[in-house]
Amino acid sequence: MFRHCLIIAFIFSSSLNLRAQESEKPEQSNLAAGRLIPASTSMTTAWDIPRDPVSDLSLEGTPDGEEIRLGYRIFTNTHGEAPGITGNLVSCGNCHLNAGQREKALPLVGVAEVFPEYNKRAGKVFSLEDRIVGCFLRSENSGAHPESILQSKEIRALASYITWLGTEYPKGSSLPWRGLNVIENENRLPLDKLDTKKGEKLFVLNCSNCHGTDGQGVQIGDKKAGPLWGPSSWNDGAGASRIYTLAGFIRYAMPYLNPGILTDEEAQHIAMYINSQVRPTFMHKTDDYRTEPLPPDAVYYRGAGGTTDNLREKR
Ligand code: HEC
Ligand code: HEC
Repeated sequence: MFRHCLIIAFIFSSSLNLRAQESEKPEQSNLAAGRLIPASTSMTTAWDIPRDPVSDLSLEGTPDGEEIRLGYRIFTNTHGEAPGITGNLVSCGNCHLNAGQREKALPLVGVAEVFPEYNKRAGKVFSLEDRIVGCFLRSENSGAHPESILQSKEIRALASYITWLGTEYPKGSSLPWRGLNVIENENRLPLDKLDTKKGEKLFVLNCSNCHGTDGQGVQIGDKKAGPLWGPSSWNDGAGASRIYTLAGFIRYAMPYLNPGILTDEEAQHIAMYINSQVRPTFMHKTDDYRTEPLPPDAVYYRGAGGTTDNLREKR
């Protein structure tokens, strides 16, 4: 009982600390509030791009401007603009909504300044460019060689666009809008409590009118949601192939026009359903998690086809 109280007191005081820290940086929160599309959006703001390099005339005719604009075009139409290094039909902007400028939809504003940063999956420090190569190899299911992706003009262009999104934030900034697409530890259900049948029902009810019951995406106006599974989706080494990671996206960013209506539990059942489907295989899974423990929700790294000797779970 006493221990219980201590834990509650600790959680309470650490959340107070967090608030105190936040209130010391009002300018950053305000900046973000003005720069990001709110998480709950309407049909109109769903298409808004607060910082759009195409309409920003100061970029006209400058070499940097051209690169930033190319980066933006690749970000929003990845298979169309970077076909040589893209292996599916899911653009960066399908997951990083409003071209990386929507709150609680994996926003990338200011994120360039956080790098270099330690990457747990790789067990080494990543530059922004290394991180983007990872996105191609996994979220974009690229069949190209990592080194040739790293050297490509597409990576330089994407890094320029993402850097330009946050030029006013100094190196090492802590960004209050970063890392909010998460299911908190205490609300994570163990995987054996997640039910693909429940997930399927919830999917049909809340998602299938835009994603199709086959998960392949339905055309709505000029938008088409990407394939959530099957050969044209992200591969099984992607962040979105982890149950809690995908649930954190769904919980706050979907359904597209009224995000936030699902509970943590519902989002996890749906993520379990989506990631119980067949998707492309990432060929280099055995190189992942060699230093850090395999996360419990990396479901495609276990069982048939996934488990390898060096992927023993470390606790
Ligand atoms: C299928 C969904 C999906 C697609 C497509 C996708 N990403 Fe991501 N991205 C994520 C998720 C989820 C995360 C964060 C969690 C993780 O990967 O573990 C992330 C993280 C990132 C980060 C790091 C953000 C941070 O705060 O540290 C960058 C940068 C990034 N993505 C860029 C891109 C680029 C560029 C593309 C296109 C080439 C892309 N992503 C495509 C889902 C996606
Ligand atoms: C009103 C239509 C609509 C509904 C309903 C909807 N989505 Fe989406 N979803 C989209 C669109 C459109 C995109 C692509 C976003 C873009 O291109 O800007 C998307 C993107 C996604 C993505 C990113 C990867 C990809 O392949 O595009 C996931 C994952 C996702 N939705 C899951 C869900 C889930 C789960 C539900 C139900 C809880 C849901 N969505 C409900 C329209 C919808």
